[in-house]
Amino acid sequence: MAAIDDISIIPSVLPADFANLGGAIRDLEQAGVDRIQWDVMDGVFVPNLTFGPDVIKATRSYCDIPFEAHLMIEAPDQYLSDYVSAGCNQLIIHAESTKHLHRSLGRVKSLGVKAGVALNPATPIEMIENVIDLVDMILVMTVNPGFGGQAYISTMAKKITSARELAQAADHLVEVEVDGGISSSTVVHAARAGARALVAGSSLFRHPEGLKSAVSELRALALASI
Ligand code: DX5
Repeated sequence: MAAIDDISIIPSVLPADFANLGGAIRDLEQAGVDRIQWDVMDGVFVPNLTFGPDVIKATRSYCDIPFEAHLMIEAPDQYLSDYVSAGCNQLIIHAESTKHLHRSLGRVKSLGVKAGVALNPATPIEMIENVIDLVDMILVMTVNPGFGGQAYISTMAKKITSARELAQAADHLVEVEVDGGISSSTVVHAARAGARALVAGSSLFRHPEGLKSAVSELRALALASI
């Protein structure tokens, strides 16, 4: 059973070789990551386009670890079941992407998967106080979503801590995840603020000693800082 202080290292597959996604997913599992994050972008909610459910489905059999779909898409409700059918175990909805967040999160839960809620840097934690009973994970964005390789926004520390306080007050397990600019030089800051699930893209794929070293290093730094 997961605990609130378990550290999870979660790769964003944005920097992966799109011509060999299955192989990339297998390599990530072998490198010791805890689950895979698919950055789903529609070109409307964020100024970039990435994966549909069929791409995710095509790689599902390449590994056994969970998939989470980070839905950076406008009006996500219409696609929720497609991403579950593609093999995702957790769907992350942006609080800013739906007019009825409580209803959207309820729909995720009714599909039998975990529900995450993501907050862009400008969005206050108060926006999810009234839906925390439906939330299994709070994703605090530490970049403005849409692209990998951006700089970590350190002013998110207070919101990460508020997210942890909200999670600790809940009567069920709620993970606190951060995403954007996470590397060996920012992971301690994020973990000390309260993050336990750490999404990283460029810092994992660009590590000079390879994925396994990158994952181990990030995990060790996070564990040592809490
Ligand atoms: C940004 C994505 C992030 C990003 C992380 O919109 O949600 O997952 O790809 O990439 P890095 O770790 O390079 O910031």
